[in-house]
Amino acid sequence: MQSLASLYPQHIAELQSRTLEAIQREGIDGLIIHSGQAKRRFLDDMDYPFAVNPQFKAWLPVLDNPNCWLIVNGVDKPKLIFYRPKDFWHKVPPPPSDFWAEQFDIVLLAQANQVEKHLPYDKRRYAYIGEYIEVAKALGFELVNPDRVLHYLHFHRAYKTDYELACLREANRIAVQGHEAAKAAFFDEQSEFDINQAYLSAVRQGINEVPYGNIVALNENAAILHNMTVEAHKPSEHRSFLIDAGAQFHGYAADITRTYAKQQNEFAELVVAMDQVTLDLVDMLKPGIPYPDLHLAAHQKIAALLKHFGLVNLSAEDILQQGITRTFFPHGIGHHLGLQVHDMGGLMADDRGTPAPPPAEHPFLRATRLVEARQVFTVEPGLYFIDSLLADLKGSEQSKYINWDRVDLFRPFGGIRIEDNVIVHRERNENMTRDLGLN
Ligand code: GLY
Ligand code: MN
Ligand code: MN
Repeated sequence: MQSLASLYPQHIAELQSRTLEAIQREGIDGLIIHSGQAKRRFLDDMDYPFAVNPQFKAWLPVLDNPNCWLIVNGVDKPKLIFYRPKDFWHKVPPPPSDFWAEQFDIVLLAQANQVEKHLPYDKRRYAYIGEYIEVAKALGFELVNPDRVLHYLHFHRAYKTDYELACLREANRIAVQGHEAAKAAFFDEQSEFDINQAYLSAVRQGINEVPYGNIVALNENAAILHNMTVEAHKPSEHRSFLIDAGAQFHGYAADITRTYAKQQNEFAELVVAMDQVTLDLVDMLKPGIPYPDLHLAAHQKIAALLKHFGLVNLSAEDILQQGITRTFFPHGIGHHLGLQVHDMGGLMADDRGTPAPPPAEHPFLRATRLVEARQVFTVEPGLYFIDSLLADLKGSEQSKYINWDRVDLFRPFGGIRIEDNVIVHRERNENMTRDLGLN
């Protein structure tokens, strides 16, 4: 594998060329990208955890430093205003010396409110890209997060540079270590809380470093799609375990889900079948196919499983046609992955930002674009026994087709999701998650 240092200059060159095109379209001289600033909790003297502007971390792996600024115009060497306050309360980052530093002209900023003198004089020729609109206005920027620029950057962010692919592979490698530890903790019959601790300890990342809140769910809780609370006490019995947890590397995210059965039973067979659904869908992910085709194929495959496992008394085609799969698989098949877990740009038809919304009957699908090389996706089919959705189904016309005793048999296991992270290449797919040996 090539070193990150050797891949990085080309990454910067690509961002420079995207910047040049974006500012030419907007008719401006450059972008001023703000890392962000501390945000105080209401009636408190504590700040929220800092979350860096994704457009900032696209340029450099500095994730934890507020009050930094980038000045880029696609031609000149990017300028980085790097915040280094005098502060005896908090850790102050050292002056940049990492592999990325030589790509920037760096000035150190000791006081956040002194940034003005490092910014271009004529602010009207620049767009501010960041979250703090009142700061931008106070500094004299008129153009704040212009749509034309953001649409262009979001659309092109889907094509990962080699540097980004290397970061994503590393994020997967770290997350897989966590998944192995969590799996062992489940078979050791630990609580959700302790399993989560085992995960975090293995990835060596805190709850504010992992790219999203871990979903750690035992038994019925596996039916809660975003089960973000962990129970501290062990359940009386360990039947099933769903874990959706990632890790980040240099700001790039992994997003992996696994589901395990404790005993060898029909639920375990359903897990194996869903695992095969994930693998079959990953095989479909090829340049030129519309991503929603994958979602529709997932519904077909899940319809076949609902039939095969005796949950619904209809042919697979009729199950699909009656819309019954939507009760059992109510979310999207996946999404673009990168600087953000749900990477931006999935619902655009082009780089001008023409909307490409999901089909009306599949509103939670987060990606509708044509699949192309260098794109990175999750593939995450699920099959769940969710009480509220099952209650709706029971009250509907379709209730008569459902084998409710079979549904009740599976309810105590909650549900299944198997999620892999996949790079699309021109000639093949790279399933980063499986390549690391996570089954
Ligand atoms: N972890 C959130 C998702 O899978 O999309
Ligand atoms: Mn996930
Ligand atoms: Mn996901």
